Amino acid sequence: MKDLNQQLQALKVIPVIAIKDAAKAVKLAQVLIENGLPCAEVTFRTAEAAQAIQNMREAYPEMLIGAGTVLTSEQVDQAIEAGVDFIVSPGFNPTTVKYCQQRGVTIVPGINNPSLVEQAMEMGLRTLKFFPAEPSGGAAMLKALSAVYPVNFMPTGGVNPENVKDYLAIPSVLACGGTWMVPNNLIDEERWDELAQLISEVAAIIG
Ligand code: 3PG
Repeated sequence: MKDLNQQLQALKVIPVIAIKDAAKAVKLAQVLIENGLPCAEVTFRTAEAAQAIQNMREAYPEMLIGAGTVLTSEQVDQAIEAGVDFIVSPGFNPTTVKYCQQRGVTIVPGINNPSLVEQAMEMGLRTLKFFPAEPSGGAAMLKALSAVYPVNFMPTGGVNPENVKDYLAIPSVLACGGTWMVPNNLIDEERWDELAQLISEVAAIIG
């Protein structure tokens, strides 16, 4: 079994999802898998996140599933219970990080400056989310951080088909997160063919 970093590196792009109706999760997972992206970061921005993760996990045990926008220890528990492979938070919250470490689940917290990278490193973390990537200085900022710190990054926030390759060209970048290939309205309206088209375009861009 590959470790999380190896899996992220192989996937290159992680769809960041806000799903309002957990009953749509299995079909969404199927469209992702069939079109070359067998992974999802399901965000706790909706009340159905944990149920959606559980539905995906039951249907596709091999899929790489993360919980995103995790802000509390309670959400960490819900995510683990639902069967996630890893946890993502938008910022660096030492309480959440410690709790994930106690529970033995990988956390990829968000950082966007050198001081936060160092605080994360002090807690033993070596894979961090660079968030929000574009407003925080984009690929140029990430190159500057990568020149200094022996850390891997997952940039997210403003990553799109035009700039994704700039990020992926940075050796410390494992994968980029993004919502652009999983727009909420296509999921809500069950426009699976259009979603499949967008996802397969991503797979083509990243080769
Ligand atoms: C996230 O939570 O990672 C971001 O909201 C994703 O950012 P994007 O919508 O710009 O891709």
